[in-house]
Amino acid sequence: MGLTFNSHYFMKDISNSVVFLADNKTPQMKQPEIIHLPKIEDPRGNLSIIEEENHIPFKIERVYWIYDVPGGQMRGGHAFKMQEEMIVALSGSFDVVVDDGIVKHTFSLNRSYYGLYLPSGLWRQMQNFSTNSLAMVLSSTAYSECDYIREYSEFLKYSGL
Ligand code: TYD
Repeated sequence: MGLTFNSHYFMKDISNSVVFLADNKTPQMKQPEIIHLPKIEDPRGNLSIIEEENHIPFKIERVYWIYDVPGGQMRGGHAFKMQEEMIVALSGSFDVVVDDGIVKHTFSLNRSYYGLYLPSGLWRQMQNFSTNSLAMVLSSTAYSECDYIREYSEFLKYSGL
C-alpha cells in the first residue's frame, strides 16, 4: 500500500511538536508534509524561523541550496536511504514530486514560510523552477554518496516493490 500524503489534511501548527491528522487525535510520523513555519509579520519586512527538533523533526547536519536553475531543468531524481530533509523555497517557486514507488504526489512550494518535510526512502524530483528561485535543503545527514539511490529500478527493489 502506498504512503498517505497528508499535505491537504493538516498543517503542523508552530506551537506543536507532534503532528496530528485532521481528526486531531492520530499522531502521524514520518510522512511527507508541508510544515507551516512561523511568520512574524512586520511593516519592515517579514521574518520566518526554523529550529531543529522543534519546527522540524530532526537535527540539522547540513544545509545546501540550489539556485541559478536554467528554465526547464530538473534536480533531484533520486532517493536517500537515511537522509531526512526539509525543503524550503526561500525565493520563487518550484515543485517537488515525491514518489514512494506506488503513489506520486506533487508539492508546490512558493512561500518562504512553508517547509516540505521528507522522510528517508522516497524518490523525489524537483522541477518547474521559476526564474531566480532558491531552494534550501536542510538535511539530517552529512553528504555521503552511499546514501543515494540513483537508479529507479534499484529504488523499487530497495522499497520491496
Ligand atoms: P545531487 O545531490 O546529485 O544534486 P541533485 O539531486 O540536485 O541533482 O548533487 C550534485 C553533485 O553535488 C553531486 O556530484 C554530489 C555533490 N554534492 C556534494 O558534494 N555535497 C552535497 O552536500 C551535495 C548535496 C551534493
